[in-house]
Amino acid sequence: MCGIIGYTGKKNVEEILISGLSRLEYRGYDSAGVAILDNGELRIRKKQGKLAVLREDLKKSPIKGTTGVGHTRWATHGVPNDTNAHPHVDHKTQIAVVHNGIIENYQELKKKLQKAGYEFSSDTDSEVIAHLIAECYKGDLCAAVRAATKQLKGSFAIAVVHKGESGRVVGARRDSPLIVGIGEGENFLASDIPAVLEYTKKVIYLDNGETVDLTDKTCVIYNGKGKRMKRKPTVIKWDISQAEKTGYKHFMLKEIFEQPEVLRNIFKERIKKGRVNFEELKISKAQLKKIKRIVIVACGTAYHAGMTGKYMFEKYARIPVWVDNSSEFRYRDPLVDKNTLVIVISQSGETADTLAALREAKERGAKVLAICNVLGSSIARESDGVIYTHAGPEIAVASTKAYTAQLAVLYLLTFYMASARGLKAARNKQFLKELKKVPHLTEKLLDEYRSRGNRLAKYATDFHEYYLARNNKSCFLYLGRNINYPNALEGALKLKEISYISAEGYPAGEMKHGPIALIDENPWVVCIAVEADTYDKMLSNIQEIKARGGLVIAIVSQGDKLLKKGKLDYIIEVPRVPEVVSPLLVVIPLQLLAYYVAEAFGYDIDQPRNLAKSVTVE
Ligand code: G6P
Repeated sequence: MCGIIGYTGKKNVEEILISGLSRLEYRGYDSAGVAILDNGELRIRKKQGKLAVLREDLKKSPIKGTTGVGHTRWATHGVPNDTNAHPHVDHKTQIAVVHNGIIENYQELKKKLQKAGYEFSSDTDSEVIAHLIAECYKGDLCAAVRAATKQLKGSFAIAVVHKGESGRVVGARRDSPLIVGIGEGENFLASDIPAVLEYTKKVIYLDNGETVDLTDKTCVIYNGKGKRMKRKPTVIKWDISQAEKTGYKHFMLKEIFEQPEVLRNIFKERIKKGRVNFEELKISKAQLKKIKRIVIVACGTAYHAGMTGKYMFEKYARIPVWVDNSSEFRYRDPLVDKNTLVIVISQSGETADTLAALREAKERGAKVLAICNVLGSSIARESDGVIYTHAGPEIAVASTKAYTAQLAVLYLLTFYMASARGLKAARNKQFLKELKKVPHLTEKLLDEYRSRGNRLAKYATDFHEYYLARNNKSCFLYLGRNINYPNALEGALKLKEISYISAEGYPAGEMKHGPIALIDENPWVVCIAVEADTYDKMLSNIQEIKARGGLVIAIVSQGDKLLKKGKLDYIIEVPRVPEVVSPLLVVIPLQLLAYYVAEAFGYDIDQPRNLAKSVTVE
């Protein structure tokens, strides 16, 4: 949460900071600010609200300069307002700091600094960093940052400038991400790659505890002990167009429509000659064979992917699987040992709870395998093995393509494990064949929804009218069974994330143990009723809802008998596929329904209130 950027070079820094921050806004967007070194002056501008407010303000009165730092905030300590916005400065306004993370001992440090005469102006934990660096400053900004960060407890990625040191930006990180962009006669610091990709494809991922000292021509990295580190930049293979909307109204819609391509790439890259191939997985088949059980740990959407993984692993690789929320796992004294494979799933690879869970699992002797989207992220680097989903940058806060990519990898991993454990290879081959058809089928399905007047968009506007007509009194229930139960949770999560409508996901069999009490004419119930072993049970659930006056949106397989009966007002068809691969298709209308409902309500789809894409604080 929070995005930070730093630049030193010859270009107009204001433009670079604002364009970088616009690519980091997914990390937080309640206020934004910049600090720019201008002819021996340190100029600060910060504004409550989205980046657009700051951008407008700077348009009216620009700040010149070629070195500076910027920030887009997701509030943790102190409400979003101009004062709490970053950058924060020391009492003499010589040092400016932008910070992502949480300083856990800020109160203790603040008291000490106040006693020494430092005056604080904000309610944030971050301000303490600026004063502390000032306290440590003896003419060398990098040395002061190193001395100050040693005293900090908690997580941070910071970028710092000093009025008296023109052309210099210093960064440091612990448990929050920070990369260096290496340019020609210019260098960058940023929370994430898209912020610098317009200018350079060469990046260095800073390690935990490192400090970096940048000028336009030099980049010096120190480890926690002050030793200079040699690091080669990684060349990023994707380009900036992947982090742009390219004609779509929202990133979320673009990312939904990218799913066929993402799946196609995963299967093309991983399935070779009828076998699953995970080159970068550093855990051998022999080690996998010894595994007695799997524990999957993740948050949010990634957690739902993990739940689907449980169905796959247990059914096809015959290994017991537990799935846990990272925030629960890390404090639960979990039972994992050297015979457990812990799979951590994270799009960003930076989620604080998942990272902490990973460390906990490693400490207990388990092997940890990460499924990550962001290359070089902390979770990817700290795990014993990693499988990248290569879904490209996901910008919308509500995750879509990262989810289907995680599912795809979990399918392949299931069959990789099954073969490592010597289970029915022939069945695997048939399964891989079915999987390979999915990208084309998702493409066909999405083609139906290309036009704005499509059926799902109509359902969404109907709901909007219904909601308003009932004085804003309606909600959603999502029901699924078996391998599509996690999709019911995911559908509900998508809807509440971006349209703020109350939505719950349930295993359909649990309906009679509570949710059925909600059924009258108010809730809209999305029933996942595709071809499955439990299809008839799902039909009974639909009857029970209809009998109580409930309104059903059914997701069915093509040609389903419910279509012929014409008894349902709302029905969505997806291609008929074996139950096991159906989650990859079912989730698409769920994502689109959430999207269109949010659109009908006129909400900010890519940047929903209170959320952030990358949750790097607890
Ligand atoms: C946040 C995001 C969700 C995401 C979750 C886990 O809550 O808003 O979209 O699913 O974090 O993120 P990760 O990067 O670990 O997958």
